[in-house]
Amino acid sequence: MSGIEIPAGLTELLQGFTVEVLRQRPADLLDFALQHFGRLQRESRPKGAAAPGRGVNFAREPARAESEDGEEEEEEEEEEEEEEEEEQQQQAGAPGAFTAPVINRFTRRASVCAEAYNPDEEEDDAESRIIHPKTDDQRNRLQEACKDILLFKNLDPEQMSQVLDAMFEKLVKEGEHVIDQGDDGDNFYVIDRGTYDIYVKCDGVGRCVGNYDNRGSFGELALMYNTPRAATITATSPGALWGLDRVTFRRIIVKNNAKKRKMYESFIESLPFLKSLEVSERLKVVDVIGTKVYKDGEQIIAQGDSADSFFIIESGEVKISMKRKNKQEVEENDAIEIARYSRGQYFGELALVTNKPRAASAHAVGTVKCLAMDVQAFERLLGPCMDIMKRNIANYEEQLVALFGTNMDIVDSTA
Ligand code: CMP
Ligand code: CMP
Repeated sequence: MSGIEIPAGLTELLQGFTVEVLRQRPADLLDFALQHFGRLQRESRPKGAAAPGRGVNFAREPARAESEDGEEEEEEEEEEEEEEEEEQQQQAGAPGAFTAPVINRFTRRASVCAEAYNPDEEEDDAESRIIHPKTDDQRNRLQEACKDILLFKNLDPEQMSQVLDAMFEKLVKEGEHVIDQGDDGDNFYVIDRGTYDIYVKCDGVGRCVGNYDNRGSFGELALMYNTPRAATITATSPGALWGLDRVTFRRIIVKNNAKKRKMYESFIESLPFLKSLEVSERLKVVDVIGTKVYKDGEQIIAQGDSADSFFIIESGEVKISMKRKNKQEVEENDAIEIARYSRGQYFGELALVTNKPRAASAHAVGTVKCLAMDVQAFERLLGPCMDIMKRNIANYEEQLVALFGTNMDIVDSTA
């Protein structure tokens, strides 16, 4: 062979870098290059698991996030398994989709991940990823809409950036059925704006079981479990949604759920208030929770706010306090501490059960890590745990009567 020989891996290395630059459009190219190649170096396996003919291991995972109880090593292995399966997809026919070439960066091995569901074969071999170009305004709105989406909470920055790239805007008219129960699942949706009703058919009759008001997300179940759509979602105002195609959802969110299961399965299993749930139901709880971290003193719940989520403490302490409200007197400002919770305990269920504003405030004492679940998942999954929760609510009332001489009307509208 004559001429200059191109070192193995160089083309992929430069292509990978170019793709990341085009995707992320960094302000400082040199700084971005340093970070990009530094990350590749950290992630390359010293003991030689590189693909044949490839000099560089293109593992995408950024520096490992902190996790408790020495789980890092186990997780790292798990993620390698997951990532091996996690190769790029091409979505045909998505309007406006731009598919950027992405290098197949991993050596494929058989997965040893013990999953209740397996990602489809269809997800394995394509080498493209979906990018829907967005205006600055769209990108800002998308970021705002996604910042509280629990299913995105455990994604690393790279996964999150791929998700945001792949999302596309869908405008909806009042009365439009975004999803019909029984259909196959195509997209997951995050709400940008608009109100939506949720109907579930019971004995052939559709019953409205809830609604979304300008926030939240839906359409994950059919994509996670390969099942028909479990509900009909109808727009009750003109609105806008951000769609995430099934292939990207499965490649990133479902794979990430495998990791979440590994991290949280035994913790969720150990919680006494979930003991009425079947094992499979507990796994579904793990699938829909998102981790939220709060700094010392940060407010998690504000008394009087409307409620949209339920919390389980993974670590740290949470202080519950209440301002006394007396109908005859001026509202007192000083909040009284009424409870302190730690790992394994829950809070924020009361307003979801009673459909009332938050009865008390919750603040982090030190750093607190909570697992949060949205109201729709709470209602769908935790029905069997209601007896235990309601007994606990009766205890709150007794406690409030002892403290304030009144139950503070915390349950007056419950049947
Ligand atoms: P999916 O089954 O893909 O499509 C319908 C969506 O409605 C479902 O995912 C959930 O995201 C959402 N949903 C909200 N409440 C319910 C409910 N009570 N039962 C089923 N699905 C629900
Ligand atoms: P929620 O009203 O949704 O938000 C505040 C939470 O504080 C409440 O749910 C309960 O989970 C928790 N809490 C703990 N003790 C009490 C109490 N005595 N009265 C009301 N809420 C309490």
